[in-house]
Amino acid sequence: MTEGTTRSDLTAGPAWQALQEHHRATAGLHLRELFAQDAERFERFSIAADGLLLDYSKQRVTGETMALLRALASEADIAGWRARMAAGERINATEDRAVLHIALRAPAGERVLLEGEDVVPQVQETLAQLGRFVGALRAGERRGATGEAITDVVNIGIGGSDLGPLMVAEALRRYRGDGPGVHFASNVDPAHLEAVLDGLDPASTLFVVTSKTFTTIETLMNARAAQRWLAEGLGTGPEGLSAHFVAVTASPEKAAAFGVAETFGFWDWVGGRFSLWSAVGLPIAAAIGFERFQELLAGAHAMDRHFLDAPDEANLPLTLALLGLWYTDFFGAQSHAVLPYAQDLHRLPAYLQQAEMESNGKSVSRDGRPVPVPTAPIVWGEPGTNGQHAFFQLLHQGSPLAPADFIMAAEGGGDGEQQDALLANALAQTAALAFGRTAEEARAELEAGGLSGAALEALLPHKVFPGNRPSSTILIDRLSPYRLGQLIALYEHKIFCQGVLWGVNSFDQWGVELGKQLAKAIQPDLAPDAPAGRHDASTEGLLAEIKAMRAR
Ligand code: F6P
Repeated sequence: MTEGTTRSDLTAGPAWQALQEHHRATAGLHLRELFAQDAERFERFSIAADGLLLDYSKQRVTGETMALLRALASEADIAGWRARMAAGERINATEDRAVLHIALRAPAGERVLLEGEDVVPQVQETLAQLGRFVGALRAGERRGATGEAITDVVNIGIGGSDLGPLMVAEALRRYRGDGPGVHFASNVDPAHLEAVLDGLDPASTLFVVTSKTFTTIETLMNARAAQRWLAEGLGTGPEGLSAHFVAVTASPEKAAAFGVAETFGFWDWVGGRFSLWSAVGLPIAAAIGFERFQELLAGAHAMDRHFLDAPDEANLPLTLALLGLWYTDFFGAQSHAVLPYAQDLHRLPAYLQQAEMESNGKSVSRDGRPVPVPTAPIVWGEPGTNGQHAFFQLLHQGSPLAPADFIMAAEGGGDGEQQDALLANALAQTAALAFGRTAEEARAELEAGGLSGAALEALLPHKVFPGNRPSSTILIDRLSPYRLGQLIALYEHKIFCQGVLWGVNSFDQWGVELGKQLAKAIQPDLAPDAPAGRHDASTEGLLAEIKAMRAR
């Protein structure tokens, strides 16, 4: 398939047609039957690679389903697109950019070419700069304007300049040791920065202003507020603040114009939502140390190699991508749940919301024509076991089909008993979703509990679990930097594969622009004396109410 091939070509191709027929023939199959028919189902539908196990035996697939889905991947030329990405081609066509986050975790000595130039040396140079900075910071050698050692780092950024480092810093909090406290302020709502700064000492606080473009309103406003907080706390003018600010940006000249002299760079071929591996990871490295940060990169690199080299049937990202497409496009599933059974991964669902929904939440294909089938589902989730006591009711007995990823680590913190309870719950949930409870089983259980007659019949329908609700389990030994690197890169490449399958450009985000433009036009009209009548009737009505409330 060539670059001009569209999604409509793909749906018209033989694999799509075959999948449609196969779906008609097999959609009624229950996971109970599939497991009963095949004692080897776990072995046949699981992939182990470098310490990470994907069990997809509880997915509503047969060997034939997977073969047909892989045929679809071949028709979509996943292998060709993957090679084009790795070769630095400008596959982000609407922004005319290459997509090379894999270069950020390539080890020194490996070559990743962008228009004939190896980008790994510049990546390594920035990493070395980061290593020196973080080393000094963690050793207490980095000092503020009054000579006090920095004890707290506040990242100011939003979207990809926030979610990745925040998620990872939380996930790896056990590796913090003597590192500084790291904090994150993203929302333009002043309450966010205010809450983050509560209890911090200006003399020992360093701000990292993270923005690829250095034009993002939320970030610039929060950075200004941070400057005011510091100036007030330290009793100094702006010239005294430079020891308390660094920037991570692809636009160092804009950072300099803003008043931040010390910058860490990254490049236009790093998408914001794929940037945590670059200097955007500064708060991570500050929190866990540069060596651990490098382990995170090594894990991601290992997953890159796996993605590039593993055959389709053993390829983890491709398999996750195909399973997702199977439910979205053939079963009509509109959401996908990410359920980490690891509290430290509590921000993973939020991180993946941006990664997946900003990447593939598109309905126009690369050639500008409508994509004829649904694309990225709504990603959501919460850690288990908390979710069980909140939304799992719907997963088990509700009407929408919500395929789920369960993420588990064999070992955790605390005493073994709590970790056992956590894992037992995770395993129980995947089994309950898959196999459910039949009316016969429910009846027997009610009878054993002493119920009979009309009372039993009235309760019975409520006690039945239909089952056949699909899930994957991703199992690791423990949540280490290396494993987390693998896990994140796994999802990154899954997203890439799905973008290719759906024929969309996963690396632009035009859909976030309109709201930004409108906000700019609306903001002046919040002033008490601003003239009315420039907006739609609803916006005008709300503006008037806001002003009236403020005037009361
Ligand atoms: O508004 C969306 C977005 O452009 C994201 O893609 C990006 O991660 C975020 O804003 C922040 O952008 P920047 O790093 O340029 O401040």
